Amino acid sequence: MIRPRYERPTLIRHVAGMMNKYARVGALKPLSHVDGVPVARLVEQFGSPLFVFSERTIVQRQHELKDALALRFPRSQLAWSYKTNYLDAVCRVFHREGSWAEVVSELEFDKARRLGVPGEQILFNGPFKPESALDKAFSAGARVHLDHFDEILRAERVAERRGLHPKVTMRVNLAVPGTPAWSRFGFNLENGQALDAAKRLRAGGRLELAGLHCHIGTFVQDVDSYRQEAKKLALLANQLQRELGVRVDTIDLGGGLASRNTLHAQYLPGDQVTPSLAQYVEAIAEGLEALDAGAAPPTIVLESGRALIDEAGFLVTTVHATKRLPDGRRALVLDAGVNALVTANWYKHDVVPAQDFAGMPEPTVMYGPLCMNIDVLRDQLLFPPVAPGDRLVFKNVGAYNVTQWMQFIVERPAVVLVSRSGEPAVIRRRESLDTLVSQEELPPWLR
Ligand SMILES: Cc1ncc(COP(=O)(O)O)c(C=O)c1O
Repeated sequence: MIRPRYERPTLIRHVAGMMNKYARVGALKPLSHVDGVPVARLVEQFGSPLFVFSERTIVQRQHELKDALALRFPRSQLAWSYKTNYLDAVCRVFHREGSWAEVVSELEFDKARRLGVPGEQILFNGPFKPESALDKAFSAGARVHLDHFDEILRAERVAERRGLHPKVTMRVNLAVPGTPAWSRFGFNLENGQALDAAKRLRAGGRLELAGLHCHIGTFVQDVDSYRQEAKKLALLANQLQRELGVRVDTIDLGGGLASRNTLHAQYLPGDQVTPSLAQYVEAIAEGLEALDAGAAPPTIVLESGRALIDEAGFLVTTVHATKRLPDGRRALVLDAGVNALVTANWYKHDVVPAQDFAGMPEPTVMYGPLCMNIDVLRDQLLFPPVAPGDRLVFKNVGAYNVTQWMQFIVERPAVVLVSRSGEPAVIRRRESLDTLVSQEELPPWLR
């Protein structure tokens, strides 16, 4: 008889959370309700996984920014960044509360118009605007943000054909210390391209330069970057007035304000380091003090996306299985992966159980249903014991997920909006096999 070789057992020490120089690692609290609605009830009614949006939070964040702007500027306007989340219901809430639409494609433009947004309340950004898009935009009275010289030519052609002299905004890219340059969009300020474009527009005589736009980047946590951006735009506006007699009626500082998420490379949690919306506005106001006094002050526009919607979004998932990886970590298989939560690639999303829990937290990895090694929602966090069937809630997921999510081997989940009076309603149905095959065709020889 061959006796199997003795293998000694491996003992893994539990680490319950270490003291650091700031204090004990924060205690985890379950999130059992969203705006008064039990998570368990939401899942029972609408299934899992499930995106849940809080209308109350959307309204509150939007008003926080709107009020901060109104305190500092005689004229200001928010424009909802469609690409951040263009579900009809979400856009409707923003528009109902006074936001215009900021779109970056013909599809988004059409979506805004279909939703009833007046053309004059649409700002059209992006490097790709075919003639058909420019034609629609000019005909509807939308404000086109010009991105490059070829677009000036194209826009002039379209406007001429329509017999129009539309007001346009020039997108500018500029350098601010501490923020990586977003130099692919618009005309560069420092090398003189922006001034050349303004001269070119004046020489063309077809498009009226009436606004300046800049979007310095995204998830910018340094308010000083906005101070610098605003100052540079103000100085450019002064120069246009002085040298070309062009007076802009709008200065649009784009978006990019950080939400309370935590980037993978970030040490302190977003909750602790993300500036308030008022702090961003304060910095912008300081920068804009460089504007020459005298004429009517321009309308100050912000196209903030993630900072207004991230906190309003939750992803409810269900634990499908728990297992032990060879490196000792506990692993949770969840019913949602990076197919639904694309932003897990950028953020260490805050995640908590939806029900009471007990027991020793231990290093845990959370992954989804995709059968791909990259399908990781959290690769390392201290998490308490949970069991199959338990629900988890990922927080601050409102931005970019329901626009960038992908259909890959599973259906995209349903999306629910909880009204301010605590009434949940589906705003996007869960996909099905029919959704998947609705665009497919079998060629005749394969039927
Ligand atoms: C032109 C423009 N405006 C606004 C936004 C919204 O950005 P954020 O969600 O970072 O506020 C974007 C996003 O990249 C953008 O490209």
